[in-house]
Amino acid sequence: MEKHYNYSLKKLNTFNIDVKAKIFTEVNSTEDIEALISDDTFLVNERLVLGGGSNILFTKDFDGIVVKIANKGITVVDEDQDFVYVKAEAGEVWDDLVDYCVMNNWGGLENLSLIPGQVGASPIQNIGAYGVEIKDVFHSLLAVNIFSGEKREFFPDDCRFGYRDSVFKNSEKGNYIIFSVVFKLKKHKHNINVDYGNIKDECAKLNITNPSIQDIRKIICSIRNAKLPEVGEIGSAGSFFKNPVVDYDKFVELKSKFPELVSFPDNDKVKLAAGWLIDKAGWKGFREGDYGVFPTQALVLVNYGNAKGMDVFSLGMKIIEKVRDMFGIELETEVNVL
Ligand code: EPU
Repeated sequence: MEKHYNYSLKKLNTFNIDVKAKIFTEVNSTEDIEALISDDTFLVNERLVLGGGSNILFTKDFDGIVVKIANKGITVVDEDQDFVYVKAEAGEVWDDLVDYCVMNNWGGLENLSLIPGQVGASPIQNIGAYGVEIKDVFHSLLAVNIFSGEKREFFPDDCRFGYRDSVFKNSEKGNYIIFSVVFKLKKHKHNINVDYGNIKDECAKLNITNPSIQDIRKIICSIRNAKLPEVGEIGSAGSFFKNPVVDYDKFVELKSKFPELVSFPDNDKVKLAAGWLIDKAGWKGFREGDYGVFPTQALVLVNYGNAKGMDVFSLGMKIIEKVRDMFGIELETEVNVL
């Protein structure tokens, strides 16, 4: 295991925050991961397992070991008449997997096009966009317990998926490293999901009446490109906050005060668009020095250059305060703040 000391993490987090790790190493195979977990350096230090670094905000140097997961590979492990079971190693870039599946006409991941990050993080976070979440196409994953070295397969029930949530953010937090994930994708009769937001409008604009999964991918890429900062160009980690879920009574109270409030039903509760709340609270496009709120999507905080993580974090806290004062709603961060 090659170790680097006092290593800059700037290129390893999409917020482009310039902090250092006391120790850094990269793992390129499951064998590397097994060697890592039997190495004392890994076990005695504080640990951070990093995928694409696309859901993290560093506010200080990391006084421990950072491990970059970089094992790659996509294989078909099984198929039947209707489904194909595609296994991707944890270090695969998420959108490369989506692209590969859409090109092969395997349906299910297309609505999750262009989400930054790597495959291994996708079930931890139960990533979601445009009406689809990972849990809808997840078959299983293989992970290793870092303390016992035991390998375990997790099926959907074991993962306890929720909105941007899973067992890996709760009772099993920090206990496992994910080797690979298997997705169950459709070979034909695709479930074309155009219900969310303006996908239907985009289809109409392009005169597409019967969109294919290839059309959906193209449309979602163009919607995201128009709204969200391009990874690598401007530092960000996508949505900085979760969309808050409130009781129906609270929703009715707010809706009477703010008739334009954007909301979605969520079982017997109501999910509110945090982007709308932040926008309404006047933060959209705010900029001070190198940090700010993205001008076309208020849910996204950005680093225009050399912002400090602490500046971005303080901005997040000010937004939480303003939204609390104005709407009586407590926003929660979606990004992991370290
Ligand atoms: N809105 C505003 N002003 C804004 C931003 C949004 O009024 O500045 C309104 C929009 O007009 C729309 C509603 O809020 O009516 C929802 O906005 P959008 O469709 O952009 O989605 P979102 O709720 O802001 C969520 C996910 C995104 C995902 C999109 C599309 C969360 C926390 N975020 O955002 O995920 O791409 O839906 O499905 O659930 C991420 O997790 O990093 C992420 C980008």
